[in-house]
Amino acid sequence: MSKITARGLREHTRAGGRFTCLTAYDYSFARVLDEAGIDVILVGDSLGMVVQGCETTLPVTVDDMVYHARAVSRGCRRALLMVDMPFMSHATVEQALANAARLMKEGGANILKLEGGADQVGIVAALTAQGIPVCAHLGLQPQSVHKLGGYRVQGRDSDTATRMIQDATDLQQAGADMLLLECVPARLAAEITARLDIPVIGIGAGDQVDAQVLVLHDMLGITPGKPPRFSHNFMRDAGDIRGAVEAYINAVHDGRFPGPEHRFE
Ligand code: KIV
Repeated sequence: MSKITARGLREHTRAGGRFTCLTAYDYSFARVLDEAGIDVILVGDSLGMVVQGCETTLPVTVDDMVYHARAVSRGCRRALLMVDMPFMSHATVEQALANAARLMKEGGANILKLEGGADQVGIVAALTAQGIPVCAHLGLQPQSVHKLGGYRVQGRDSDTATRMIQDATDLQQAGADMLLLECVPARLAAEITARLDIPVIGIGAGDQVDAQVLVLHDMLGITPGKPPRFSHNFMRDAGDIRGAVEAYINAVHDGRFPGPEHRFE
């Protein structure tokens, strides 16, 4: 059982392979995911909503991320540990470097994820120049929910689609090791994936991407309220948490998830 690396995942996807990612926020769930064979465990700032009960991800602090990342890192034996940079923790290069150092040193992160397009190109270049692997995040960026006016599919018109393709290319050029696309029309996600050399992880982005991610609480069916359309309750048939995680892994690998009902046009 060797530790997964960002570089290894890039080689894997270049050879046509897929991989799986789920969020986790504590040690015990991280152990279950890791032992079931999840390749990337994401300590997402979604913890603000599913763990802390906030309305948005905006209140999440770097201290919160360090606390949860450190717990998850103890359960992450094989999986790559990806950690989100929370809202306003990467607005300047100086701030991004200082907060990234904390997430890596204190939180045990293996790769950091940050939301943003053209505005983040310089930040990504500065982080990767310091040897910090980065996953860029385009499409729906929940940290910008107030500017976006809600949680909406992004890239539906040709102007925003063209800008997203350009941003993706520029972020890769700046050194990003991966790209995550959230709530993007499946055709646009497929085009971006085809244009990039780095792995593309999708959530609500169709099946023509290199990897899938879901929020753990959504796929276990315990998120309060209406589940997102792009998610699936794997717990319903599996009966237990480990079985649900294994069912998700198998469904991604054999192409059953995401299905047509989970994609956006
Ligand atoms: O914070 C998070 O959990 C995320 C996923 C929605 C991809 O960024």
